[in-house]
Amino acid sequence: MKDSSKVILVTGATSGFGKAAALYLAGLGHKVYGFGRSVESTTREAGGNLTMMRMDVNDSSSVNDAISAVLAAEGRIDVMLAAAGLGLGGSVEDVTIAEAKALFETNVFGAMRTVKAVAPVMRGQKSGLIIFVSSIGGLIGLPFQGLYSSTKFAVEGLAEAMSMELRPFGVDVVIAEPGDFATGFTANRVKAVASESADSDYKEAYRRAMRNIEKDENSGYKPDVFAIAISRIINSRRRKLRYMIGSPLQKSSVFIKKVLPSRLFERIMAWYYTGSR
Ligand SMILES: NC(=O)c1ccc[n+]([C@@H]2O[C@H](COP(=O)([O-])OP(=O)(O)OC[C@H]3O[C@@H](n4cnc5c(N)ncnc54)[C@H](OP(=O)(O)O)[C@@H]3O)[C@@H](O)[C@H]2O)c1
Repeated sequence: MKDSSKVILVTGATSGFGKAAALYLAGLGHKVYGFGRSVESTTREAGGNLTMMRMDVNDSSSVNDAISAVLAAEGRIDVMLAAAGLGLGGSVEDVTIAEAKALFETNVFGAMRTVKAVAPVMRGQKSGLIIFVSSIGGLIGLPFQGLYSSTKFAVEGLAEAMSMELRPFGVDVVIAEPGDFATGFTANRVKAVASESADSDYKEAYRRAMRNIEKDENSGYKPDVFAIAISRIINSRRRKLRYMIGSPLQKSSVFIKKVLPSRLFERIMAWYYTGSR
């Protein structure tokens, strides 16, 4: 292991952002541990630098077992990239509490479980970097992805607070905020049963919004762009709290939200996604 090489943990490493980042970072010579539910047994990839292990972020013992196994092998953890997550399409009214809770379980409590497991290790080392994966949808409430947006708004608050709490221990927290990317996210998005039903009063607007959302994602950047951005964050000496990663248009939408009157911004967003104002 080279002096500059780090022990990097990546959740959601079986697909999309996590997979691209795990492979890219392993290719740079880092010792990477990638996790996902669909990993059947622990395997070595990428010339031995990437170890894939099973982890379900919804299950505390699965998270703790995997982190303990890494610690036993490496004795330290330098970086945690919390990329496991999923989407949910549907109007807020149509989404059931059970559907919403399932989403929060992975996107918010799953991220919380993983960072809670590594934070004591990093505090003990007096060094470490935790990267939460939020979204531009964690800065702007997206129509027909309201519950998804609210999980990412929650991640933003969690990460902001944790950053202040961990800084005195020498641990850095940053938030990666991607725009639309072409990953497994689109196909894996859960759809609220009631919004999919022909009885939903939202069905026309929902269908138009979903078509536009999926079109933007499918024509979005490849996840390699995310992987390179994450590597730069890891190498940076003075890190920002937030890194937006995406097309100039998507990044500028966050700036436009800040400067336009809220109701005007809302009308532009509603028109963009559903064609109505
Ligand atoms: N793609 C986009 O446009 C976009 C934009 C902004 C933010 N994001 C965020 O980026 C993150 C990664 O998404 P992606 O685009 O890479 O989607 P993806 O291709 O669908 O990958 C999602 C990953 O999360 C893992 N995962 C899901 N539930 C899990 C669980 N309970 N336990 C452990 N792992 C779990 C999946 O692995 P297993 O199925 O093997 O468990 C998979 O590796 C998500 O937080 C998403 O919200 C995506």
